[in-house]
Amino acid sequence: MPSETLTIRDNRTGKELELPILKGTEGPSVVDVTKFYKEFGLFTLDPGFYSTASCISEITFIDGEKGILLYRGYPIEQLAEQSNFLEVSYLLLFGKLPNQAEHEQFERLVTQHTMVHEQLKDFYRGFRRDAHPMAIMVGVIGALSAFYHDSLDIFDARSREISAYRLIAKMPTIAAFSYKYAVGQPFVYPDNERGFVENFLYMMFAVPCAKYKVSPVLVKAMDQILTLHADHEQNASTATVRLAGSSLANPFAAISAGIGALWGPAHGGANEAVLNMLGQIRTPDRIGEYIKRAKDPQDPFRLMGFGHRVYKNYDPRAKVLRKAAHDVLQELGHVDDPRFKVALELERIAREDDYFVQKKLYPNVDFYSGLILSAIGFPTNMFTVIFALARSVGWFSQWMEMISDKGQAIGRPRQLYRGAMTRDYVPLYQRD
Ligand code: SDX
Repeated sequence: MPSETLTIRDNRTGKELELPILKGTEGPSVVDVTKFYKEFGLFTLDPGFYSTASCISEITFIDGEKGILLYRGYPIEQLAEQSNFLEVSYLLLFGKLPNQAEHEQFERLVTQHTMVHEQLKDFYRGFRRDAHPMAIMVGVIGALSAFYHDSLDIFDARSREISAYRLIAKMPTIAAFSYKYAVGQPFVYPDNERGFVENFLYMMFAVPCAKYKVSPVLVKAMDQILTLHADHEQNASTATVRLAGSSLANPFAAISAGIGALWGPAHGGANEAVLNMLGQIRTPDRIGEYIKRAKDPQDPFRLMGFGHRVYKNYDPRAKVLRKAAHDVLQELGHVDDPRFKVALELERIAREDDYFVQKKLYPNVDFYSGLILSAIGFPTNMFTVIFALARSVGWFSQWMEMISDKGQAIGRPRQLYRGAMTRDYVPLYQRD
């Protein structure tokens, strides 16, 4: 019998059940309700998963009260400052920081997969030029499984690893192509002499008729953005990837489902919505009107980039990004960007306002990221694509952990049914 248990008593029958309490290495313990329906004939109900742990994981830990985020035990602040996205990708996938040889081999393998099948380019022509790039990403990433049959054996560790390299390496290329297609410029192929992040900026902003150089400050800020967005426990899109993957669908199909979930403005689409909101507010003197709307329960307006299901303290990623936003804007001479001034003032006012203090609404990862991306030159509709590019590493790591779990079963939630009781069919001529 496990050391700690929770006794549940059904007062209708007097029946009692001892449920095992499972402890983690950090954070809240869980009560294992696997046997609950079998013993009590009752389901547990938790539509927004406010109190539900969907899996056991070793990848990412969040403490919402303390504003802590660890990737495989390493604090996000240290990784953002001292590591880089490719090394963090290795850490999330394999559970340890790579040594010199492992780092070089991982970088070499990812670099060898940056090109996409030449026919994949034809997919873009099927989209309107003004298609939202996230619509393109959902389609093209899902379609990768049409090209890489040799690495779709999800039960073969080698195949899983090759698919991981392919996805990590090709996401920047596919993302940059979606931008080039939208602006009517020729696709820029990856230049494998450049580092991973610099290569992405090169594919995004280089044109055939000019040399492309990028400031190391922008590369570092971009690398930090990717690192900070790489994984985040069981958020909506990661939970989607796990559920889609639990049916044994291939990882590209599961990750395409995750891209769809990330697109929503309540989730990864918030960074685009923040920039649009800052543009709407325009000047600090109009902030009060928007704060009032955000507090009005009758008004659906939310302060985008604020609040979080888990963080009831400052999102540690937002802290890093606020500094990075200042550095990038200073480097580019945009530190007077009115949207940055509005953002700083909006944060100051909101954090002094009782409504936001009582509801523990702090800036989240999306509040400052858009300012950096906009300063680097990305259009707002590319912001969530960049979030997806970064999060593809977390999605793949979580998928790999799920598919390697021997006890894994297909995710199949139940429901509380409140529909019609059984009734007989009424032929058309007898209906009112
Ligand atoms: C991401 O889950 C993750 O980890 C996600 C993410 C990741 O890395 O994967 O961190 C990335 O998605 C960050 C969140 C980006 N979204 C936004 O910035 C959109 C604005 N935020 C809100 O939509 C909201 O805060 C959510 C969706 C983020 C969280 O919603 P919850 O946990 O369901 O919280 P809630 O809606 O229950 O809010 C609690 C209260 C409510 O008031 P009451 O019903 O108690 O009266 O706070 C209010 C909400 O009305 N509230 C807000 C608000 N967010 C919550 N009021 C005004 N403005 C806001 N932004």
